[in-house]
Amino acid sequence: MRHKSRSVAVFPGSFDPITNGHIDIVDRALKVFDEVIISILVNAEKKPLFSAEERLGLIRDAFRGEQRVRGDTFSGLLVDYAMRVGASVIIRGLRAISDFEYEFQMALMNRRLNPRIETVFLMAPEGFSYLSSRLVKEVFDLGGDVRGLVPPVVERRLREKRQSAAKRGRGRKD
Ligand code: PNS
Repeated sequence: MRHKSRSVAVFPGSFDPITNGHIDIVDRALKVFDEVIISILVNAEKKPLFSAEERLGLIRDAFRGEQRVRGDTFSGLLVDYAMRVGASVIIRGLRAISDFEYEFQMALMNRRLNPRIETVFLMAPEGFSYLSSRLVKEVFDLGGDVRGLVPPVVERRLREKRQSAAKRGRGRKD
């Protein structure tokens, strides 16, 4: 009899910060795969709001107690990273048709780089089809309400960031 090996999937992204849309994708991926690794791309070119360590902390808080989910960081080629952690699947969420072209290009490039790694797309729930980390940051920055769009721990950290930025602003000499 053949033993079924543990299926590991990587869910890569910037996660700056993780949103409830990402969490929904992971929850649904757990119905299909044994383990999901949420992997933050450490990209020296981008200026993120949260450092990679902070983003990892937020992911760990959001999935505390869920043994089958772990957070990690990576740099370099995603397919090489997936091989290193023993994942045979890359998960990506699709929100709208506008995501499709970019995702299609990435999936085909990754398949060319390593045909053993399969990309699987999960549809974002319709209630979150407009949601992105970028919009969350923008809305929060402009004083809008992001409750229900991000886990409570992310909302708290966004508020703390705003408070420390305001303090720094007050401390600055004109
Ligand atoms: O959250 P994002 O920005 O949509 O995530 C993009 C990500 C991290 C999945 C993509 O940029 C990536 O995989 N980068 C790693 C570099 C790589 O492997 N590039 C070639 C594949 S297209």
